[in-house]
Amino acid sequence: MKKVIKKSYKFAIKTAFYITLVISVLIAAVLLVSNVFHVGIVLGFSAFCYITSFLIIQYRVERFIYRRVKKIYDDLTLLESASLRRQPITTDMATLTQEIDKFAKDKKLEIETLKVREEYRKEFIGNVSHELKTPLFTVQGYVLTLLDGAMNNEKLREQYLERANKGVERLIYIVQDLDMITKLEVGDLSLNIETFDIVELVASVFDLLEMKSAKKKITLTFDMFYADPIMVKADKERIRQVLTNLVVNSIKYGRIKGTTEISIENLIKNKVIVRVTDNGEGIAKANIPRLFERFYRIDKSGSRKEGGSGLGLAIVKHIIEAHDEKIYIESELSVGSEFSFTLEKAK
Ligand SMILES: Nc1ncnc2c1ncn2[C@@H]1O[C@H](COP(=O)(O)OP(=O)(O)O)[C@@H](O)[C@H]1O
Ligand SMILES: [Mg+2]
Repeated sequence: MKKVIKKSYKFAIKTAFYITLVISVLIAAVLLVSNVFHVGIVLGFSAFCYITSFLIIQYRVERFIYRRVKKIYDDLTLLESASLRRQPITTDMATLTQEIDKFAKDKKLEIETLKVREEYRKEFIGNVSHELKTPLFTVQGYVLTLLDGAMNNEKLREQYLERANKGVERLIYIVQDLDMITKLEVGDLSLNIETFDIVELVASVFDLLEMKSAKKKITLTFDMFYADPIMVKADKERIRQVLTNLVVNSIKYGRIKGTTEISIENLIKNKVIVRVTDNGEGIAKANIPRLFERFYRIDKSGSRKEGGSGLGLAIVKHIIEAHDEKIYIESELSVGSEFSFTLEKAK
C-alpha cells in the first residue's frame, strides 16, 4: 500500500520568513552605511533569499522530519491499530499528536476490556467447577459405597444406583445449561421466528410440569379461561424454555399447596405481556438486581434443598433480549414473585 503524505508547509514558510527578514535588514543596513542603498536591490535579494531558504528548508524537513514521522506511523501500523491504518499519513504535528493520543486511548480501553473479560472468564470457570463438584462427589460417594460392599445388598444396590443416576442427571442438566448459555453469549444461537399460539404453548408447559408440581401440591393454572388463541411471533422452542424455567422456579421456590398462575394480556397495540405469578417464598429486594446473573442463587449453602445451576434466569434473560423484548420481576419476601415478559403479537 502506497502511503499518501499530507504535507505541512507552515514550518518552512515561517522559518524562511525569519531568515529573510534578518538577512534583508542586515543587507539594508550594510547598503545604507556604504551609501549604495536601493530599495530594488533589497527587495530583489529578499525575494531570492526567501525562495531559496524556503525550498532548502522544506526539502530538509521533508527528508528528515517527515521520514521520522513516517517511521512512527509504520511502527504504530505494526501494532495493528485499525484506526491509524486507514488514514493517510500526516506530517502535521498537531494531527499526529492527536492521532497518537487517540491511539493510546483506544489501546488503553482495549486492554481494560480484555482485563474485564479475563476476570469474567476466571470467575466463570471457578463457578463451573464449583457447580459440577457437588453432583460429581455425590455420584462418586454412591459408587464407592457400592464397590465397598453395598452392591451385595440387593436393596441398597438399587437405591444407590438410582441416587447415583440422579447425580448424573443433575450433571447433565448443568452441562446443558452451560452449553445453552455459552451459545447465547457467543451469539451464535439464531432465532427461529414463527407464529404460534402462546395459550397453547403455556398449556403444554403446564402439562409437562404437572408431575413435578403435584409433588408439592402446587396448582398450575391460567388466570382465566382463554377461549381464543393468542398468536405471537417468536422462537417457539426458546419461549417454551423461558416458560419452563420460570414455572420450574415457581415450583422449586413455591410453597406446598401454592399456586402458579399465568396470564397473557395485551400491553400495547402490537405487544402482549406474559406474567408468571407464584405465592412462594419471594425474593428480598436486595437480591433482585443480581437475580439474572449467571450462577446467582440466593441460597448459597451447599445443602440447599432445591437443585439447580443458577443459570436458569440468565438463560431466560438472554432469550428474551435476543427477541428484543423485556423481562420484569416483582417480588416480595414471603408473599410471592411475578416474572413477566413481553412478546410481539402476530397480525
Ligand atoms: N419464583 C421464584 N421465587 C423465589 N425465588 C426465586 C424464584 N425464581 C428464582 N428465584 C431465585 O433466583 C435464583 C436464581 O434462579 P435461577 O437462575 O433459575 O437458578 P436456579 O433455579 O438454578 O437456582 C434461585 O436460586 C432463587 O433463589
Ligand atoms: Mg431455575
